[in-house]
Amino acid sequence: MRLAKYLAHAGVASRRASEELVRAGRVTVGASVVRDPAWPVDASSQEVSLDGSPVLAPAGWVVYALNKPPGVVSTARDPQGRPTVVDLVASDRRLYPVGRLDIDTTGLILLTDDGELAHRLTHPRYEVPKTYRALVGNPPVRESALEALRGGVELEDGITSRARVRRLAADVVEITIHEGRKRQVKRMCDAVGHPVIGLVRVSIGPVELGDLGPGEVRQLTEEQVDHLKRIGELHPHM
Ligand code: URA
Repeated sequence: MRLAKYLAHAGVASRRASEELVRAGRVTVGASVVRDPAWPVDASSQEVSLDGSPVLAPAGWVVYALNKPPGVVSTARDPQGRPTVVDLVASDRRLYPVGRLDIDTTGLILLTDDGELAHRLTHPRYEVPKTYRALVGNPPVRESALEALRGGVELEDGITSRARVRRLAADVVEITIHEGRKRQVKRMCDAVGHPVIGLVRVSIGPVELGDLGPGEVRQLTEEQVDHLKRIGELHPHM
């Protein structure tokens, strides 16, 4: 692991601040001062110290699944002081939400201290499928609307990619998209004449919301985390 990342992950400071600590010559690896933030550290055999005090090796990464309630923002910090998804997870790690849900959207959001994984899962090139259930106005949703949603609808920022869509009730559709544009599902449903009244995300790749209640948190198993990581490796198309 690179030195600055090691420090950030050990909870010393943010990644950028850790880089500065390294450049300032305050960090030693073994017996030597290292000023290169990208210096590779083998945590199993080398001791890293800051200002002479050992920095304990970071534990493994964690990924949490949260059922985001309405009214909670999905950024790490909110300038307006509203509750954030990070506030809902009792953890002393520096957690990043993976992607965003609108403030009124509920359901599955992942949080992790693994910045690389967070980046991978949100980058459009990895195409992680995300499934939403939308309660919509103007029922019943007809086959023609479902077909339009499947094939791609014209939005102001371009046509949407193919989606998996099924009707669960006259006024409920389940939509799986591989993109993550702002308010995408709401705009797609709007475009076919069915404004969204309520939206919940039920899965991200292999991870399902399941019976997680609003505000509840579950830590993903190692197997699930590995699965998520493999999606990032298998599907890049750039
Ligand atoms: N699509 C939306 O419109 N809103 C969300 O929060 C997520 C996907």
